[in-house]
Amino acid sequence: MNDSSGSFHLIDHPLLQHKLFTLRDENTKTKDFRTCLSEMTSILCYEATRKMPMREVSVTTPFAEMKAPDMEPGSLAAVAVLRSGLGMTEGVLTLAPFTKVGHIGIYKDKESGELVQYYSKMPLDISRRHVLLLEPMIATGETADFAIRMLENYRCPAVSLLSIVAVQQGVDLILSRHPYVNIYAAALDSGVNGDGYIVPGLGDIGDRMFGTR
Ligand code: URA
Repeated sequence: MNDSSGSFHLIDHPLLQHKLFTLRDENTKTKDFRTCLSEMTSILCYEATRKMPMREVSVTTPFAEMKAPDMEPGSLAAVAVLRSGLGMTEGVLTLAPFTKVGHIGIYKDKESGELVQYYSKMPLDISRRHVLLLEPMIATGETADFAIRMLENYRCPAVSLLSIVAVQQGVDLILSRHPYVNIYAAALDSGVNGDGYIVPGLGDIGDRMFGTR
């Protein structure tokens, strides 16, 4: 995990962009928002797993025996950053139901301004798995950076960060500190406002997916 082959991948597939358009629209209803977010995550997962380890396995078709390529079992994990990463979990599991899922909870202490981990539960064998870190909005990049630092303790073979919208400053922060990480996102927006929200962005993604505002 210590090489520097990571980079930022902007996925411009028309279907992904169409669903992002729906997420951006302030009139999109909670249910449709959740569905689109989940479907977008499946597409990002598809892109991020292109280079997963493969093996040749014997299989019997209705006509013959053959050796066919298959994924290495036990090679994928997803780690959702609470709470917004929860909205991406189903999208990974739809495409790759064998994925094990971890969770990490992080909050910013109001007095010190420091990020604090309040929850962590990882698959027992996470250190053998390629991790898809699910953090849909990369604004300053600090939360993702914190989560990646936590994952570094496990020495996983690869970490890919799946995001919906990113901002350049956040991408730069993550790649400068973790140059081996690949970041997959559907958009690179122009900036972050005084409240820490991406502009134009899509609003508070947790509130929009759970209908809490
Ligand atoms: N988190 C959100 O929910 N939205 C943003 O724009 C940035 C971080």
